[in-house]
Amino acid sequence: MTARVLTGITTTGTPHLGNYVGAIRPAIAASRGAGVESFFFLADYHALIKCDDPARIERSRLEIAATWLAAGLDTQRVTFYRQSDIPETTELCWLLTCVTAKGQMNRAHAYKAAADANEAAGEETDAGVTMGLFSYPILMAADILLFNARRVPVGRDQVQHIEMARDVAQRFNHLFGQGKDLFVLPQAEIEESVATLPGLDGRKMSKSYDNTVPLFEGGAKALKEAVARIVTDSRLPGEAKDPENAHLVTIHDAFAAEAQRQSFHADLRGGLAWGEAKQRTVELIEAHIGPMRERYAALMSRPDEIEAILQAGAAKARAVAAPFLKELRQAVGLRPFAAVAQKQAAQAQARTALPVFKQYREADNRFYFKLSAADGSLLLQSQGFAEGREAGAWVKRLKTEGAAALAGAPVTLAEGVQRPAVEAALAALLAAEQA
Ligand code: TRP
Repeated sequence: MTARVLTGITTTGTPHLGNYVGAIRPAIAASRGAGVESFFFLADYHALIKCDDPARIERSRLEIAATWLAAGLDTQRVTFYRQSDIPETTELCWLLTCVTAKGQMNRAHAYKAAADANEAAGEETDAGVTMGLFSYPILMAADILLFNARRVPVGRDQVQHIEMARDVAQRFNHLFGQGKDLFVLPQAEIEESVATLPGLDGRKMSKSYDNTVPLFEGGAKALKEAVARIVTDSRLPGEAKDPENAHLVTIHDAFAAEAQRQSFHADLRGGLAWGEAKQRTVELIEAHIGPMRERYAALMSRPDEIEAILQAGAAKARAVAAPFLKELRQAVGLRPFAAVAQKQAAQAQARTALPVFKQYREADNRFYFKLSAADGSLLLQSQGFAEGREAGAWVKRLKTEGAAALAGAPVTLAEGVQRPAVEAALAALLAAEQA
């Protein structure tokens, strides 16, 4: 069975070397494996939560799309699309919003961090918090559940959001599944083997630390300048260096084959100058990403081509999402009225097709009842009763007990009618009563 893998890429900022090593490269490598069906998308609705600058939104999603394509994403194999091209996402988001506990959202990291920061600063808890930020995990749950993804590769900071997606999926299944699971429960996947890349100063490479090495931006020159600024210790050329304790080496090794790694480490122990070590690092990284940078530049000059690729991806994704959303709407009761009309017609037909009891009084002043089939033919005739109540009581017993009450009943079968036909008529009435 193929495992469906899905992950979203928030389209803010410009990708750096850390994003490439920590997220883009491993995701693309994993998508090439046998037996996986990957869905990768640009989480541009999520980007709107953090950014209200349309020009930045526009540029960032284009750059990030081009980056993934240039890095070798195979869009024949992988379904690659923009979140905002899938209207089913926001529809599902609302269905999920209606079954998500607000108290649980109060505990979501993204919101909690903002609220805590406000409180620490003596501000009102919710100052500057939008509903978008508050319901961030619900939109994320919709992204995942819409495609019934089983595996969701994410960073550690997103694990709680995946757990929330599981919770809401479970609640939805319980409320609307009628015993069957509408949603697959997703599982977060943390890639343990991929180390986070250190930045220029040795802390995790991150835009918020201003310690990044650009991926494509600024060309080979910017790469060289950034590597030149990587902090090393002050050992002089010729002095032995410790490769285990230099983040320059970690960055180098992220691009090196085993043999290159070993010779680099040996040369450093043997006194290789940091300047030369940086030069070798630049050459190594450039050999790896130089060709990608060219593809990136070509793609960025043809945005129409990227648009066409993403539209094709959206069509593939919607072919999965649209029928599923239809099913979900049905499950919660948002159904076409045609279905109600059909049900009514069926009920009306069932009613008219039933046998009927009739009670009446004859010229002899006694009370009688009879049972006729749906077509009007007589099945059963009672004897005469002095009291109407007695006739009524027998009708009630025959209706509620069915054929079981027939044995002692003061009735005679109509001429030519067999007992099984009467029993069947009583059973039909009983079933209709209980339905
Ligand atoms: N919130 C995720 C992040 O910042 C991006 C994202 C959005 C995502 N929707 C998703 C990741 C669905 C996985 C699945 O990294």
